[in-house]
Amino acid sequence: MDKIIVRGGSRLAGDVEVAGSKNAALPILFATLLTDERCVVRNIPDVADVRTTLRLLGDLGAEVEQDGADVAIRARELNSSEASYELVKTMRASFLVLGPLLARVGKARVSQPGGCAIGARPVNLHLHALEQMGAEVELVHGYAEARAGQLRGAHVQLDFPSVGATEHLMMVACLAEGDTEIENAAREPEIVDLAAALSSMGAEIEGAGEAVVRIRGASSLGGMDHRVLPDRIEAGTFLIGGAMTQGDVTVHGARADCLQAVIVKLREAGAEVEELDGAIRVSATRRLDGVDIKTLPYPGFPTDVQAQMMALATVSEGTSVVTETIFENRFMHAVEFMRLGADISLDGHNAVVRGVERLSGAEVMASDLRASVSLILAGLVADNETEILRVYHLDRGYQRIEEKLAKLGANIQRVKGAKG
Ligand code: EPZ
Repeated sequence: MDKIIVRGGSRLAGDVEVAGSKNAALPILFATLLTDERCVVRNIPDVADVRTTLRLLGDLGAEVEQDGADVAIRARELNSSEASYELVKTMRASFLVLGPLLARVGKARVSQPGGCAIGARPVNLHLHALEQMGAEVELVHGYAEARAGQLRGAHVQLDFPSVGATEHLMMVACLAEGDTEIENAAREPEIVDLAAALSSMGAEIEGAGEAVVRIRGASSLGGMDHRVLPDRIEAGTFLIGGAMTQGDVTVHGARADCLQAVIVKLREAGAEVEELDGAIRVSATRRLDGVDIKTLPYPGFPTDVQAQMMALATVSEGTSVVTETIFENRFMHAVEFMRLGADISLDGHNAVVRGVERLSGAEVMASDLRASVSLILAGLVADNETEILRVYHLDRGYQRIEEKLAKLGANIQRVKGAKG
């Protein structure tokens, strides 16, 4: 297993480009199963979750041809309708294959995702909605086995604006008979990007990015040529890194309209943030102030940036209260920050972070994707060396981050095949 070693004390400065969004690319790649025509998806990030998805699509019978960040997929005929536990346990988002398979071939057998380091993450909302659309779903031996004749449009009221459930339903509704209305839909930019991809396949979708999404079903969809939107979470990560190291970083490809909640908090902390055409520049010339954050569905503060913001809080002046409302257990990084000398008290969904002048390097363990990157950020402001173990989590969602950070001036290296 690889590890990452960061020697603290560098200030991040310069230009960096963000890759395509992992969380937008994954559902769009699954949407290619909805048609037998050729789909081209551009700007996909070179990360483990995307590679896993392309492998799954190939296993199901799709022809997959990749050329750098662009991939052409043609699911002319499918020869399987199953996604195994082996696969789903490495990437929960592969559960999203269930709906497209059901809509296309009338059946699917997909492993139920288990819990993960950040919470229980059930899929009840996905399954309940599919049942409302006429699917019969049985949970057998850890698998969701679904069958359907012609799926039909439905009025679905989500109990919570789940990103995955909204995406799942939007895909299925495109091939259902009649209209579907999703109330309390997730409003994340990745939903809007999926809707754009589906629309280019000929789907009729209204309201993506709003709380009510309406989809008019069709008997078939055509191909697409779609460019995935830039990764707002990667962009937010670089902005926070630039601010907490009192640096000056321009993040190219970052869309300020998708990152307002993070930008507002960085400004409140005392960083300067400029919204440029096609880029965002952050700079700070002093130690930042502590700020309170509370994660919420979009457009609220993203849970996927919570760990990075907590890294910033550990070395800010004063106290920050970090409240996590999306996942029940997304504070594993806090305990690792404490090993680096951070002063944090945890109480349920709240972390009270009292900023210290400097962290002190140590060995730490990554527990999930965003926790991993937040530990790298913490390592940048720690004395001596910080060794981050289990970085395979990092590779699921960040494309060559150590190279990008090194280019910005970080003293960082990956050690291949390390123990731990
Ligand atoms: C997506 O996960 C993202 N993943 C996550 O990013 C992100 O943290 C999350 O949305 C929230 O923004 C992808 O897009 C691939 P949810 P998803 O369904 O769709 C509960 C990262 O680091 N819930 O909006 O799984 C659930 O348990 C990852 O890139 C149910 O109770 O998130 C959670 O508490 C991590 N029942 C909350 O809703 C359901 O059926 C939000 O989950 C579905 C969800």
